[in-house]
Amino acid sequence: MEMVTFQSMSKETIKGGSIPLRGEITPPGDKSISHRAIIIGSLAKGTTHVNGFLSSDDTLSSANAMRMLGIQIEINNGNVEIKGKGLLGLREPEDFIDAGNSGTTARLLTGLLSAQRFFTAITGDKYLRARPMDRVVKPLTMMGGKIWGRDEGKRLPLAIQGSKLSAIKYQSPVASAQIKSAILLAGLYAEGETEVVEPTPTRDHTERMLSYLGVDIKRNGTGVRIKNAAEFKGAEISVPADISSAAFFIVAALINPGSEILIKNAGINPHRTGAIEILKEMGGDIEIINERETGGEPVGDILVRSSALRSVQIKGDMVPRAIDEIPVISVAACFAEGETVIRDARELRVKETDRIRAMTAELRKLGAQVEELDDGMIILGKESLRGAMCSTWGDHRIAMAIAVAGSRADGVTEIEDAECVSVSFPGFFDVMGRLRRG
Ligand code: S3P
Repeated sequence: MEMVTFQSMSKETIKGGSIPLRGEITPPGDKSISHRAIIIGSLAKGTTHVNGFLSSDDTLSSANAMRMLGIQIEINNGNVEIKGKGLLGLREPEDFIDAGNSGTTARLLTGLLSAQRFFTAITGDKYLRARPMDRVVKPLTMMGGKIWGRDEGKRLPLAIQGSKLSAIKYQSPVASAQIKSAILLAGLYAEGETEVVEPTPTRDHTERMLSYLGVDIKRNGTGVRIKNAAEFKGAEISVPADISSAAFFIVAALINPGSEILIKNAGINPHRTGAIEILKEMGGDIEIINERETGGEPVGDILVRSSALRSVQIKGDMVPRAIDEIPVISVAACFAEGETVIRDARELRVKETDRIRAMTAELRKLGAQVEELDDGMIILGKESLRGAMCSTWGDHRIAMAIAVAGSRADGVTEIEDAECVSVSFPGFFDVMGRLRRG
């Protein structure tokens, strides 16, 4: 008789009771840099070797997309070999490109594919199909791109007829590295010099990697300029550990008394270390040691000890520098003395899910006092949360933030649909368990 098996969505259980975290970890590779290594390595001439690569659902979406565009990519855990074919080496794919859950894949590729000599179509999962794409479609159309999409070009699926682009100077209304990177990748092909100016600076991994590979890219203040590039060659790219993944353990160690952990080889690009600064301002005992540089990116080890935290105000230019860490910072705020206010963070509403709404709802289930604002949250810190049944909203960072909150709650926290952690951190729950066993 044939066995019928049902794929069950995974539920994770986190035992509370404040077990200290102890030991050393190297979190998985940086997600933003891994995407860029795949995409930019495919455009280089010759072989690019990547080490420290994050092999997760999101970055594999980028790798599969580039394979569909004719690039040979071999992935062996953290080691990747990309046989780049140069700027004009891509070919028309036979089917839709599926970006899965990955906004970085969808938006960066929309920029790149607008400038090719062929047709492509991009789609994604139900969460990504709900996210805004007009933020890249608009500037790329100004460059001469021919892009159509659902909801008047605002949403995936997008259909892209590659065409000859011309340079623009674009003043972006939104602080977004994905918008900036989409335009810069298109700018590699556009006639003239393309410039992107941001309202506040965002992560600059695209600029660093292109410049590391020898592309002429100029920066001043919040502006970046790129000329249509001559060919550039493949190279060795080292991806540091992801500070955004590290942030979950940093907060878990801070809020669970008796903890001491060392996070090794973390990327400490100043555009990404907002969370460290915020948590230090909250009184967190966090020390960066052994600072160095690999492959054009600053790297260091981070020593964290449990600390008594106080509330903080988060707003303005700080927000883009901590944008992916705000869910877990809101968890830290639950255990901080006083009222933490997070503002100017409306962008959180258009991430993998509406992270303001999701964190407000889930932290309340755990007994936290949280007020939802249009562009942020107000969290009144207190000493204890109680375990509860929580949802992830299909969002990896919500899942991990809830796990951290649950580690310091009384009783047990159950996290439904926890498999979404594989978007950025497959193995997260195992690492958490290992650190809690010391
Ligand atoms: C990313 C940029 C940010 C960030 C995302 C990754 C990138 O998004 O939230 O997780 O790799 O460029 P936005 O560009 O939408 O701000």
